[in-house]
Amino acid sequence: MMILGIETSCDETSCALIKEGGRLVRQALFSQTELHQTFKGVVPEIASRSHLEKINELVEQMIQGNQKIDGIAVTIGPGLVGSLLIGKMTAEALGWVWDVPVVGINHLEAHLYSSFLEHKELKPPFMGAIVSGGHTHLVLVEDFGKYKVLGRTRDDSAGEAYDKVAKLLGLDYPGGPIIDRLAKKGDPTAIPFPRAHLPGSWDFSFSGLKTAVLYFLQNLTNKGGLKIESLPLPLKTVADICASFQSAVVDVLVRKTISAAKKFGLKKIAVGGGVSANSFLRSELIKKGKENKLKVYFPSLPYSTDNGAMVALTGYYKFKKGFYDAKNQEPLEVNPSLPIKNWN
Ligand SMILES: Nc1ncnc2c1ncn2[C@@H]1O[C@H](COP(=O)(O)OP(=O)(O)OP(=O)(O)O)[C@@H](O)[C@H]1O
Ligand SMILES: [Mg+2]
Repeated sequence: MMILGIETSCDETSCALIKEGGRLVRQALFSQTELHQTFKGVVPEIASRSHLEKINELVEQMIQGNQKIDGIAVTIGPGLVGSLLIGKMTAEALGWVWDVPVVGINHLEAHLYSSFLEHKELKPPFMGAIVSGGHTHLVLVEDFGKYKVLGRTRDDSAGEAYDKVAKLLGLDYPGGPIIDRLAKKGDPTAIPFPRAHLPGSWDFSFSGLKTAVLYFLQNLTNKGGLKIESLPLPLKTVADICASFQSAVVDVLVRKTISAAKKFGLKKIAVGGGVSANSFLRSELIKKGKENKLKVYFPSLPYSTDNGAMVALTGYYKFKKGFYDAKNQEPLEVNPSLPIKNWN
């Protein structure tokens, strides 16, 4: 079985091939980061236009040498509607021309399965943590396609908090990797930023933390007789703010994920989404996991952020495990706020 995966939900255009055993054959990816950098965030119209310009070239890279395709998996949500439509229309057109089935994939499920690409021993049940640009979810993965969403963010996602704090500090977009880098030079105990643990709930909240960083900066600049626009601050101060902010985010993510895994009697945790690339989150969760006899899985860095391989792999599982009946298919519809649903 050879599955073509297509991902165009936000600002990465990516295609990948997954073969028998869920093994990656190849992937092509075009990142639009540079196109959006001046705007310090993704501009939807620029994103969809760029997907349209790139998608055919990436598909061609997948089918070189007359590669036979048995099925297509395409992200249908959540994401930007114009961007999702480019992927969906491409997948449907190819499915029609090649006469192969097309299955719609939830982008968040694909993040949940991203660790399967390289960790073949990983199988459900496990505690899934999705920490991405738009979402922060704790999901109990009982089996393939069988989920309980335990909690989610009530306001900003972890990635959004990174990007907004980076913007406050006058840093580039996306802010996550830059804060990750700067935090290594700072003191995580320098500023006691608040942690929203929300006892009795598996939900998250990061907007208060972001506001605390804003107030801290306002206070700092006022005291020094400066205006907030007079940033950049000295490098050591910025590094301390980054390290202290990151420590607050990671502290909450690690504590809640470990507690949820223990509460539901699980032995494994799998993390996905752009923030799973964070070096401090990785080291802390692995360390605390060991202390609690939990095995923690992360995808390697290229598969933490958006990629076609995780979409193709999720499609492979849907086809392989019989959750796709070509005769009884509704037409595919994109949904910018597609929820995580069970496969049957
Ligand atoms: N090393 C890092 N540390 C912290 N955050 C990071 C790191 N690398 C990337 N990020 C963050 O990951 C986010 C992008 O992740 P991803 O590509 O999964 O998001 P998305 O696809 O836009 O959102 P979603 O998956 O929720 O639809 C950005 O907010 C970015 O700042
Ligand atoms: Mg994503």
